[in-house]
Amino acid sequence: MTEPVPASTLEEMVAYYRARAAEYDEWFYRQGRFDRGPEANARWRAELAHVVAAFDALALAGDILELAPGTGLWTARLAPLADTVTAVDASPEMIAINRAKLRAIPGGDRVTYVLADLFAWTPDRRYDAVCFGFWISHVPDERLDPFLRTVAAALKPGGKVFFLDGRREPTSTAADHHLPPAGSQTMIRRLNDGREFQIVKNFYEPAALAARCAAAGLAVTVRETPTYFLYGVGSRVVG
Ligand SMILES: C[S@@+](CC[C@H](N)C(=O)[O-])C[C@H]1O[C@@H](n2cnc3c(N)ncnc32)[C@H](O)[C@@H]1O
Repeated sequence: MTEPVPASTLEEMVAYYRARAAEYDEWFYRQGRFDRGPEANARWRAELAHVVAAFDALALAGDILELAPGTGLWTARLAPLADTVTAVDASPEMIAINRAKLRAIPGGDRVTYVLADLFAWTPDRRYDAVCFGFWISHVPDERLDPFLRTVAAALKPGGKVFFLDGRREPTSTAADHHLPPAGSQTMIRRLNDGREFQIVKNFYEPAALAARCAAAGLAVTVRETPTYFLYGVGSRVVG
């Protein structure tokens, strides 16, 4: 049984992402401390392309809710497909970067930003799709079932869900980060300037995660790429 995550750690995680916003994309693009060499970087890009193909195959459309959109790496893919995108994040710095990035992208003006804590926020309408990239690993185990019920409540019956996250792989993160020890839900993250923050990091097993989605009313297939990514595609159960 893992220790529940205290509210103070969830607050520290928001502080971390607020402080990290300007350097966040270095991780995604394998730059600086996240550059793990040509072979690992090439594998990251190839596996990401596989996940993007699964995302594209879902053919999302209509009104889309994006949870924890961060700097907009996925908002930029959603906006051209959607009638509207509602993007909910707790970091004003992340939202500012996302907004600036989306200004240059077709459909970027269809995005509405909501500054909110996802552990307190509840949807006030239903959407055609809900997406969240690299968020589910930050949801404490004891909050996962309520979170997934919130996702289901935000979807129209038959509405689609897509999520993506990292697998437990040391080279996915910076060379000076240590993954959480077995049985722990938290790890220490460092910024380029050396500041340290404690955050939540969980690596859910695909079958167990799919079962928890099903219990929340979401029929989701959860798959892994060979090294780096876990992703889920599915829909809210009708009825
Ligand atoms: C790992 S980033 C993911 C960003 C983006 N989805 C992506 O795929 O690159 C996590 C995001 O969660 C946001 N976040 C952290 N705690 C949050 C909370 N309690 N409520 C809402 N957003 C939160 C951070 O501000 C950050 O933008």
